[in-house]
Amino acid sequence: MEELEVFRSRREREEERRKERSHHDVRDEVFDRRTLLAISRLVSRDLLQQVDFSISTGKVANVFRVTSAEGPRALKVYRVGNAVFRSMPPYLLHDLREEVGSNSFGRLVFAWARREFMALKKCREADVPVPEPIEWYRNLLLMSFVGKDGLPFPTLIKSEVKNPEKLCRELCTIVRKMTRGAELVHGDLSPYNLLYDGRHLTLIDMGESLPVSHPQAAALLRRDAANFAHYFGRLGLTIGPDELFAKMGGDRFA
Ligand SMILES: Nc1ncnc2c1ncn2[C@@H]1O[C@H](COP(=O)(O)OP(=O)(O)OP(=O)(O)O)[C@@H](O)[C@H]1O
Ligand SMILES: [Mg+2]
Repeated sequence: MEELEVFRSRREREEERRKERSHHDVRDEVFDRRTLLAISRLVSRDLLQQVDFSISTGKVANVFRVTSAEGPRALKVYRVGNAVFRSMPPYLLHDLREEVGSNSFGRLVFAWARREFMALKKCREADVPVPEPIEWYRNLLLMSFVGKDGLPFPTLIKSEVKNPEKLCRELCTIVRKMTRGAELVHGDLSPYNLLYDGRHLTLIDMGESLPVSHPQAAALLRRDAANFAHYFGRLGLTIGPDELFAKMGGDRFA
């Protein structure tokens, strides 16, 4: 019993130290010298005037609200550091390595930010509601701000849903346009990556997206459809994973 206590308290101390270290990592990785220089480059090109506040601290990136001459924008800052690669699905690491022909963390992260920028562009062209991409530069992605009165809309996971059927229809329309029109699969479709203003959805976080021709595309869409079937089930709407997959454009893989 005593030993167990000793063991536990040592574990707790170690955990505290780990957390302290990771706080340092966040600060050092987000605003390292090169990232600050990259941000100042966007400032000197008049794309933004100031960084206002942090909206989100994620595993792979941090998102800030920034101010530009046209109003608020969102700036996603991908972290440059090897810790990021632990959160990256294997297919993505493989694809980015092929794309950049190098193992350099920096170059891989830049290619990752670029992948999200390009996916947003393709989605806009296909009329999928996503933020408008404004600029990609190194590990920075500048995009339109999705929110009201200076605050971002909440994610779907944090939102109350009054009409699950309508929401499901809208989600299927959006994802179908993405699969059929933009010919992309999101790769991480979930209620965490949708912003909701109470009426309409905006799809975000496209860094893991992949072309429908990719060997993993159908499986990823199927997985996300199954997760959403579960989500809708909890809202009292019964819809099977296969039906949802087909409605999301999965029928193109048949
Ligand atoms: N264009 C935008 N406008 C307003 N808020 C945004 C925008 N893009 C992202 N956000 C905010 O930042 C959060 C994180 O964005 P995103 O999911 O793209 O980053 P992430 O690093 O992948 O985060 P996580 O690891 O938590 O998934 C979103 O939940 C949202 O609150
Ligand atoms: Mg996300």
